[in-house]
Amino acid sequence: MRCLVLSGGRGTRLRPLTFSLAKQLVPVANRPILGWVLDRVAEVGVRDVGVVVAPDTGWAVREFVGDGGEWGFRVEYIVQEPLGLAHAVKVARRFLGDDDFLMCLGDNLLGSSIRGFVDRFEGEGLDGLILLKEVEDPRRFGVAVLDGEGRVVRLVEKPSEPPSNLALVGVYVFSRRVHEAVDRIRPSWRGELEITDAIQEMINMGCRVGAEVLDSWWIDTGKKDDVLTANAVVLDEYVVRDVRGEVVGSRVEGRARIEEGARVVDSVVRGPCVIGRGCVVENSFIGPYTSVGDGSRIVNSSVEYCVIMEGSVVENVERLEESLIGRNARVARRGGRGVVRLHVGDYSEVEV
Ligand code: TTP
Repeated sequence: MRCLVLSGGRGTRLRPLTFSLAKQLVPVANRPILGWVLDRVAEVGVRDVGVVVAPDTGWAVREFVGDGGEWGFRVEYIVQEPLGLAHAVKVARRFLGDDDFLMCLGDNLLGSSIRGFVDRFEGEGLDGLILLKEVEDPRRFGVAVLDGEGRVVRLVEKPSEPPSNLALVGVYVFSRRVHEAVDRIRPSWRGELEITDAIQEMINMGCRVGAEVLDSWWIDTGKKDDVLTANAVVLDEYVVRDVRGEVVGSRVEGRARIEEGARVVDSVVRGPCVIGRGCVVENSFIGPYTSVGDGSRIVNSSVEYCVIMEGSVVENVERLEESLIGRNARVARRGGRGVVRLHVGDYSEVEV
């Protein structure tokens, strides 16, 4: 069994961050999303991992994953123009050979191990196994229809009238028959080779495609609010109280991680939250579900339910909430009441 991790794509819904960063490297709890994804892959016990990257952001993904040693992988990088998930499978054909493979999206987080899922594929001799999740509004997702025995009968991409509430989570296992299906399909209306079309083609070809419904959480971090949700969930699940930085005249409540070299002065820090190495927090409140990246400065401000990436400054801001701030950014209040001065990049969003 091999594994293909999709870490390319365009990430248009996460602009402007994705102009300069692969979206899989956006941090939650101060660690790239891709790191959490690879932890799940490592639990399965695969060794040969192909990481699909986009031409422009691939270098940074390589820098983070390296030779895969952190997870015990042998990693091969596969550069792909972002032309769809099934296109990624096509481009990875040489790496995959005729082996069965697990395929994971590098920006989807799961609340539980997928080991049992992969075991089931092997045990039942399937050609495809897909992971599903019951969702409230299936219209945003690929949706599956199952028969009485849990086999997949039909897949529909973003249906206006969903035939079920079972959305496709970005985790799949395939036999080599998927390549036949990928070769038969044509690009969709958006010009991409869709994995849902390839799986539907497998069903049409008479392949045995099973499904399993996930009962833990699943977060597709495609947009800003999803990143904030992922940050909150991961902080809640993984952060323990661990204060290594210097705390002066301050109160640290609950599960807060304050990294080495950070300085918290005359402030209140309330977990779950993470404050990175070398940060300065002064005369401020860091509220629950906040991650502050290494080397950031929070001064005379209140910050809650935010992801602030490394090297950024928040100064004199009364209440910053539900915000995602990129690297080396500066958010500050200056000047009189009602005056707003901005220097905002393309596709940014500012709510004042
Ligand atoms: P998507 O979120 O569906 O696509 P995208 O990354 O292009 O984002 P947007 O819709 O905001 O423009 O991709 C799901 C995952 O698969 C994500 O981790 C990126 C990856 N991917 C590839 O590796 N190659 C591709 O061709 C595509 C479309 C996505």
